[in-house]
Amino acid sequence: MSNYVKIFDTTLRDGEQSPGATMTSAEKLEVAHNLARLGVDIIEAGFPAASPDDLEAVRRIANEVGNPSSPDAKVPSIAGLARANKTDIDKAWEAVKGAKKPRIHTFLATSPIHMKHKLKMDPEEVVQRVSEMVAYAKSLCDDIEFSPEDAGRSEPEFLYIVLGEAIKSGATTLNIPDTVGYTTPDEFYKLIDGIIKNTPGMHEGITISVHTHDDLGLATANALAGIQAGARQAEVTINGIGERAGNTSLEEVVMALKTRHPVFGLETGIETQQLSRMSKLVSNYTGMVVQPNKAIVGANAFAHEAGIHQDGMLKHQTTYEIMRPEDVGVNQTQLVMGKHSGRAALRNRLAEMGHSLDDVELDKAFTRFKELADRKKVITDLDLEAVIADEFYKPRDVYLLNGMQVTSGTMGMPTATVRLRGPDGMIHTVASIGTGPVDATYKAIDQIVNVPCTLLEFNIHAITEGIDALGEVTVRIQSDSSSTTMDAQREVEYIRVYGGHGADSDIIVASAKAYINALNKLIIAQTEGNEKISNDFGVMLG
Ligand code: KIV
Ligand code: ZN
Repeated sequence: MSNYVKIFDTTLRDGEQSPGATMTSAEKLEVAHNLARLGVDIIEAGFPAASPDDLEAVRRIANEVGNPSSPDAKVPSIAGLARANKTDIDKAWEAVKGAKKPRIHTFLATSPIHMKHKLKMDPEEVVQRVSEMVAYAKSLCDDIEFSPEDAGRSEPEFLYIVLGEAIKSGATTLNIPDTVGYTTPDEFYKLIDGIIKNTPGMHEGITISVHTHDDLGLATANALAGIQAGARQAEVTINGIGERAGNTSLEEVVMALKTRHPVFGLETGIETQQLSRMSKLVSNYTGMVVQPNKAIVGANAFAHEAGIHQDGMLKHQTTYEIMRPEDVGVNQTQLVMGKHSGRAALRNRLAEMGHSLDDVELDKAFTRFKELADRKKVITDLDLEAVIADEFYKPRDVYLLNGMQVTSGTMGMPTATVRLRGPDGMIHTVASIGTGPVDATYKAIDQIVNVPCTLLEFNIHAITEGIDALGEVTVRIQSDSSSTTMDAQREVEYIRVYGGHGADSDIIVASAKAYINALNKLIIAQTEGNEKISNDFGVMLG
């Protein structure tokens, strides 16, 4: 059996489809480029049947990320999800066929609960449908993955029959989802072991995959148990984002395999030094904050605060650290630059951090860096990451903050004057009062942008220590009249939630930037698909 575990990233499908993690097509493309750079083997780029925009986003990823920049460069397979029906499969194929290595991933539920209440199908009909639809997908695409949805609550004997049919019809990857995060590691090990031993037609060319959800906090443990039983593909998301409590997190599975290599004896193709950066990118794009104590990528994952731990760390790093922070790309203590650092030094440091900027982008980053250096003595990698996220990991600027002035305190009404450059190129200035400085600012922005929406979440935190720290704000908003999208599994429409990110040494400015960032995404999403608009926002929206 191979000692290589393929990493199948579903951040852009199971992750993004979870309400609240919406990304624009441009952001999805950027995430896909970075996933390829991270070294994932397969990118599940979306569920093309959800909407024309979703299909288009998957198509762009397949064409741009799924093709090598040079003949011998490694490219990931690009997968599109499809329910087990011809329309979905056609759309998935339409979306992924431009990739060098396209994959169709089709699924049908096999648990008694799902077959009875969701599908309203007999087990025999399910077997028949799997056989027909896998064969249909195979007639279009060579690489077919099949998932028996809710496998964790399915009868193992029935799974053997269904999976055997899938193999007969041409599937080469059999993905075993614990859809509702119900199983325990011991049960999941036995499930995978039983499938490998009892499925008719099982052979070396078939990859068994694990896809686990975290409802009981067991997703990573279950995925690792499945891998120990012989699975050689793990379906994961960055930061573990996904339906409900989320999916197995990529960083946890990969670092467990790496850190406990003597136990597993298995390899992945992931460049682990990029994990921290990747986590921030996805968090900034989705507005889903990573909890500070999150394994591997949380802000506290490598922080040692208790006196006794610090003493131990000074004696020897391995006393309390099982991984080196630099192995996952965390270098919190490094003081990188100061007021007198020049453009070349900034370019070098950013390149070392994995950001290769062109001259125009570097000019922008340098201006931001100098502004920051005027206010803050030393600038760390974390500050630079925040500035880069703020400046570049964002959708096109439909509205852009041009200036603002806020008064607040106990002596009067909090008042904000906000100046935005609109899509028409005109400057709009509005003053508003509010219950506090952020409320006043957001009300002023609302008056200019005039897109009715609800603020669902507002988070603020300091990126580094000290009174001059850069403040980072993430928000999540929902449009009051929003476009909906379809959840692949529940087959229901849901309203998308948009996240925004802003960083500044002035936290009210950071708050304004985050809100404008989220509003820009919402506006782009509402107008995406209209070719004229996506070609030239300025003309159409003006
Ligand atoms: O959790 C699940 O069952 C899924 C399938 C579509 C693979 O996401
Ligand atoms: Zn899932």
